[in-house]
Amino acid sequence: MRFDVVTLFPDMFPGYLGQSLLNKAIERGFVQVHIHDVRKWTRNKHQKVDDRPYGGGPGMVLCVQPVVECVESIQQQGDSPGHVILLTPQGRPLNQQRVEQLVERRRLVLLCGRYEGFDQRVIDLLQPEEISIGDYVLNGGEVAAMVVIDAVIRLVPEVLGQADSHRDDSFSPGNRWLESAQYTRPREYRGLTVPQVLLTGNHEEIARWRREQSYEKTKQRRADLLDPPDSQIGAQEEKERS
Ligand code: ADE
Repeated sequence: MRFDVVTLFPDMFPGYLGQSLLNKAIERGFVQVHIHDVRKWTRNKHQKVDDRPYGGGPGMVLCVQPVVECVESIQQQGDSPGHVILLTPQGRPLNQQRVEQLVERRRLVLLCGRYEGFDQRVIDLLQPEEISIGDYVLNGGEVAAMVVIDAVIRLVPEVLGQADSHRDDSFSPGNRWLESAQYTRPREYRGLTVPQVLLTGNHEEIARWRREQSYEKTKQRRADLLDPPDSQIGAQEEKERS
């Protein structure tokens, strides 16, 4: 799996990339992450990559030239141009179903915005998929790009220790409910004990208890998951794009 990240803040990434799971996946060659500083692509003599919006308004807009030329150059490297994603609060909300489709792409080019956004011609020319990681506004797309990388790499079969240990994650298609509570040693801490059923060794009973817990938690916190409407981003998205 290869990621190319286009950013004005390349220094935000090394700490994240050095964290254990990702670092191991990179060292073992299952994942490659290339960080590209968009500023290197500007033809402006003052290294400017942004400018005031036509028509007025607050903030600065990222210019079309450095972004488009940076991405075009990246796409010429490697075996395939990759799937281009723009991280923006205006995008469709990311969910686990979409993450599972993204891992199949094998190469993702992630564009991180800053300021008030990109010149619209970046979108017109590169036709990226626009993704939001939630209904809140970050200072830029960098953290959102890390979220996408993080969610995708753990589905690369070789990355997680047990090949299918993500199957029980909440939100995966086999399990749309929230996970039940987990316990480990000791059996008692400050008077709080581990539920008796988990100590019985009766796998059927344990599975039933977990299902019930999972259902109750989902009903209380995320009733929308019990009867999901058509996914905002997922099957429909993939159909449109293939
Ligand atoms: N950039 C700023 N806010 C964002 C969000 N919520 N999702 C993706 N990219 C963003």
